[in-house]
Amino acid sequence: MKTEWRPTLAVIGGSGMYQLPGSQLLDQLNVETPFGSPSAAISMVKFNDQLLAFLPRHGPAHRVAPQQINHRANLWALASVGVRAVISSAAVGSLVAGQPRGSFSVISDFFDRTWGRADTFYDGGSAAGVQHLPAADAFCPQLRSLLIDSLRELAEPHQQQAVVAVINGPRFSSPAESAWLTAAGAELISMTQYPEPVLAAELNLGYAALAYITDADTGHDGSEPVSAALVMSRLGEAQPRIQAVLSVLVSKLAASYQPQERVPAAAVAAVLQLPTSA
Ligand code: ADE
Repeated sequence: MKTEWRPTLAVIGGSGMYQLPGSQLLDQLNVETPFGSPSAAISMVKFNDQLLAFLPRHGPAHRVAPQQINHRANLWALASVGVRAVISSAAVGSLVAGQPRGSFSVISDFFDRTWGRADTFYDGGSAAGVQHLPAADAFCPQLRSLLIDSLRELAEPHQQQAVVAVINGPRFSSPAESAWLTAAGAELISMTQYPEPVLAAELNLGYAALAYITDADTGHDGSEPVSAALVMSRLGEAQPRIQAVLSVLVSKLAASYQPQERVPAAAVAAVLQLPTSA
């Protein structure tokens, strides 16, 4: 195994994205973490002449259910190979007319309706201690604005912000649940956009989501209610568009990108078990 791969950017692929479209596979790293195994080996790929890390969050053949994804292992593994920025590619449902099917959305906030998911690296049980992550802008403003610029450049229909409700899954919502989430202010719905953003932020990784809207959940716009087959097929059709957006984004992300320090660097180093300089 070649160990000197140091990609700045990682893409986490959601339902229907098990390889990074348009990329060339260079290597695959099996990273074991203190939290167990990631969803898959980390692929080192060449994309637009740049080195990127790619990880399918549901595993290579969609074997990992949303409520079983080991998000801590996934983020830890990406941070351990030097990644500083993570773009999540996610299929999401729309709950409101302002977030239409077939368009993109650059998620700006979340509403966590999951349960039982390990959502912190800092539970006090290690040298890293307890940390209280500010979650006012868990999605990195810098990366979000690069994503918005990329979508604008390609004239892709998109919304610059959205609140995503994250349900536990694996089943989809009932109409009553969907209406309740909408009344609470959610505009999009997903099973995976929590706790990924906060775990990334806890490692001082920049994180933003390129959400592609595959459905209108239970059908608030009169369309066919969501099903897994519908999500997969619509996401499949959108792959060239997603590839194009990522391609523009990669050209905009400077190697010097520095995410915000949201948690003391020493605490992150303790979680990542980095050697101390002392
Ligand atoms: N992913 C894509 N569409 C979804 C929906 N309607 N609910 C939950 N997760 C989704």
